[in-house]
Amino acid sequence: MIVDWEAEFQRTIDADSRIEPRDHMPESYRATLIRQIAQHAHSEIIGMQPEGNWITRAPSLKRKAILMAKVQDEAGHGLYLYSAAETLGVSRDQLIELLHTGRQKYSSIFNYPTLTWADIGAVGWLVDGAAICNQVPLCRCSYGPYARGMVRICKEESFHQRQGFEILRVLSAGTAAQHAMAQDAVDRWWWPAIMMFGPTDDESTHSQQSMTWGIKRFSNDELRQRFIDMTVPQADALDLTLPDPALRWNDERGHYDFGPIDWAEFWQVVNGDGPCNRQRLAQRVAAHVEGAWVRDAATAYAAKRADPGAGQAGSSTAAA
Ligand SMILES: [Fe+2]
Ligand SMILES: [Fe+2]
Repeated sequence: MIVDWEAEFQRTIDADSRIEPRDHMPESYRATLIRQIAQHAHSEIIGMQPEGNWITRAPSLKRKAILMAKVQDEAGHGLYLYSAAETLGVSRDQLIELLHTGRQKYSSIFNYPTLTWADIGAVGWLVDGAAICNQVPLCRCSYGPYARGMVRICKEESFHQRQGFEILRVLSAGTAAQHAMAQDAVDRWWWPAIMMFGPTDDESTHSQQSMTWGIKRFSNDELRQRFIDMTVPQADALDLTLPDPALRWNDERGHYDFGPIDWAEFWQVVNGDGPCNRQRLAQRVAAHVEGAWVRDAATAYAAKRADPGAGQAGSSTAAA
């Protein structure tokens, strides 16, 4: 039987069903997903650096345990996403190589430094908060493995957002110095978080096609507005001020208005000239090189488990 796979692909998209790895798909759909999922995976693992920076200096054992769990979650997100990308016919080694040579990007937000403990609160509250707005619609993405991976990731992200909020709540209600530290962190992270939604709709190159394919469900500007509307009341609850004098409720629109975004800064960081771009990439490459023995050991162990008869007699049962 001859199946018109292009029509079949379109029928699946139109019916809001899922495309699976075994299905035929247009090469441009595959390439778009590889680029997006890889960029997402890279962001998860690069994002471990600004927060990992505070693990040894977290103010209590409890805070340290929570932060370690959060950073490990991000590693797990990277793992799910690299695996989802691999179902599209690209290998994890290839993707890591593209990241390390600067040919694939990660979210620019992670090119900003975490200067104080309050930054860990601001990152959780604002960066994970913005990530949730971006990612919840991806649970309905037309590509099955990506959509299913996002369900679990979003649950963990919402825990991250709350732990960030809670760090800031404690600091904000603490001493004058602690309150000032919380305010300073929010002052530095607010605009970069707003920029996480990417360029405005008229400047966004891939958006329209991604919407047609059911990869993207809402435009950059819609998601940005949703994040702002969600976050302003939370800032009030925290007794912290968002650094935008133009921020006010607009009854007519039913949304908060906000001030102009500094797109020059956005493009500067995207194009490699943010405060930490070089440091982040250098650290990632170094971690990969230093971790070679772990990968070798894991591969050897997996081979031993797959074939217990090989190698030294008797050792395989002990290892299992
Ligand atoms: Fe994550
Ligand atoms: Fe997160």
